[in-house]
Amino acid sequence: MDQQKSPKSFKRYTVTSALPYANGPVHIGHLAGVYVPADIYARYLRARGRDVIFIGGSDEHGVPITIKARKEGVTPQDVVDKYHYMIMESFEKFGISFDVYSRTSADIHHSTASDFFRKLYENGKLAEKESEQFFDEANNQFLADRYITGTCPHCSYEKAYGDQCENCGTSLSPNDLINPKSVLSGNKPIMKKTKHWYLPLQDYEPMLRQWILEGHKHDWKTNVYGQCKSWIDQGLQPRAVTRDLDWGVKVPVEGADGKVLYVWFDAPIGYISATREWSQETGKDWEPYWKSDDSKLVHFIGKDNIVFHCIIFPSMLHAEGSYILPENVPANEFLNLEGDKISTSRNWAVWLHEYLEEFPDMQDVLRYALCAAAPEAKDNDFTWKDFQARNNNELLAIYGNFVNRTLVLTHKYFDGKVPARSELSDYDKKTIDQMEKYPEIIAKSLETYRFREALSELMNLARLGNKYLTDNEPWKLFKTDPERVATILNINLQICGALAVLSEPFLPFTSRKLLEMLSLEMVSWDNGAKPEILKAGHIINQPALLFSKIEDEQIQFQIEKLQQTREVNQNEESIDVNPLKEDISYEDFARMDLRIATITTAEKVAKTKKLLKLTLDSGVDTRTVVSGIAECFTPEEVIGKQVVLLANLRPKVIKGIESYGMILMAEGQDKKLTFLHPGAVIKNGSIIS
Ligand code: MF3
Ligand code: ZN
Repeated sequence: MDQQKSPKSFKRYTVTSALPYANGPVHIGHLAGVYVPADIYARYLRARGRDVIFIGGSDEHGVPITIKARKEGVTPQDVVDKYHYMIMESFEKFGISFDVYSRTSADIHHSTASDFFRKLYENGKLAEKESEQFFDEANNQFLADRYITGTCPHCSYEKAYGDQCENCGTSLSPNDLINPKSVLSGNKPIMKKTKHWYLPLQDYEPMLRQWILEGHKHDWKTNVYGQCKSWIDQGLQPRAVTRDLDWGVKVPVEGADGKVLYVWFDAPIGYISATREWSQETGKDWEPYWKSDDSKLVHFIGKDNIVFHCIIFPSMLHAEGSYILPENVPANEFLNLEGDKISTSRNWAVWLHEYLEEFPDMQDVLRYALCAAAPEAKDNDFTWKDFQARNNNELLAIYGNFVNRTLVLTHKYFDGKVPARSELSDYDKKTIDQMEKYPEIIAKSLETYRFREALSELMNLARLGNKYLTDNEPWKLFKTDPERVATILNINLQICGALAVLSEPFLPFTSRKLLEMLSLEMVSWDNGAKPEILKAGHIINQPALLFSKIEDEQIQFQIEKLQQTREVNQNEESIDVNPLKEDISYEDFARMDLRIATITTAEKVAKTKKLLKLTLDSGVDTRTVVSGIAECFTPEEVIGKQVVLLANLRPKVIKGIESYGMILMAEGQDKKLTFLHPGAVIKNGSIIS
């Protein structure tokens, strides 16, 4: 891959990872799809001595954030502050080695995004258009993106959003929705005129065809290339880049009050703002990373972000005129969890901050399990059993065991001093030869974004050592042939050294521990598997365990935790899926005498928990009704309330009290009851029909 230019012809690398929305914590789906591969790639490039900036940050605009703030009764800034710091901290603990982690509510971002927009505007790159858009009269607000829901025209899912249907994944515009409803008031919206600015994507079609469809047919992943092709072939449309909202980057032109940049316009510019922030902190020039042809720009993202990073953002960059385009966009598919789609709203996830607390000092195990099961070519499943097996049967049984045996034997036979090699057998020579190839083998996979393959090659290096040690059985030879034992252990120690160096991108914590145990300084990737990495006579430190066994109980605990989530979700779902009862005729309905009545007295029925004895003024009489509402209401609360009374229900004796009729109640979540009130105070006895 990367056939046009060999990797060496790039002078510097700009590696970005999708900016996570700061409206919830990060989970394993984000990690496997974006942050683990991006971090491996950035660490690998650094190990090769390349000039690289690895960029991350929080995406803090967009409607989901304002909706969440509204629900919680806090400001959008409160929401993003909470999650920005939480996400940043857990990334750091997890060893994601960003050179900068910024945020789109930062001043530098607002000014960068504003300048970008203004430049397009001033150069006539944006079309200005008035159109009718959904408007909520009750809230006096236009209903952009997720402020509107309705039925998806493709799959009939009833809770599709104005920008996307989460059921079938189709991207929508608000006008596509059937039965649109305001998220704010639940009302049917009206149409109202408003002005917006559009990026004429159709103008960039020739550029996109040439750059992607012709230029990257062979080096981009097929899933990415395929999505781009289908977008381009369907015909590109002008894309609105502004919204009528108050949370976001203000549109920096005259006559744009109450308008902000569309979140997908400002967020990718966040990569540039973050680079500028880094530049201010380090004193280094940011521009070559974005504007120089000998820089390689790579975006790590999930598959739902492909159109934004391959079509829209590149069109923006091209329109601006001074930026380079990405060399590759190695998007991943999705990771599922125990057979189900990961979902923040259904709490179906393994959250990074919780993992870090529950498995302290085991960052590398999760990094390993997620990389080994990365959804590179298709969706993949994470299971706790697989996680346990990856640790116990691979990291511990192969890598850890090999290193431990080698170090223990070196201490036992040679007091921790690296013994010298003497004459080499064919097996020895072959092993050294194979070892020396690993930097190139692993690099080849990493340069082409095949991270699973790269990791399995790393494990093959550990296997090579493990097998060599087991086959040669030095513990049986020491009495008769200590010189041979010296040679065997010397070779094993070189392999340990190579593992320490070549593991760094994948397992940075383990790499550091192993280097420390070997008393070795880090060396460059290319020198990472030289047979003299540990010189004869060099003293190593005492071995400590690199990995520890994960017990069944720990895994059981996690599985049960998920099981509880499943139960909570099922209970919630069962509330809104009560099936419809069978049809009745109008006559059946008309036989019911429903009318408005007022509760005039109320008292608890002795020796019961649930019952209240009520007196009602029904308009035609004063009557007693025994009602099972005492768990939700005190007698004082209900006196004076107007209610709906089923007046001709046959009288019934309840706990010795004769009850004439029934009050209608609605049952909400958690079995909470509420009264049905008339919309205004009306005369008792009014008929409901
Ligand atoms: N916040 C987006 C998401 O999680 C990703 C934004 S990537 C950026 O899907 F380029 F826009 F920053
Ligand atoms: Zn749909």
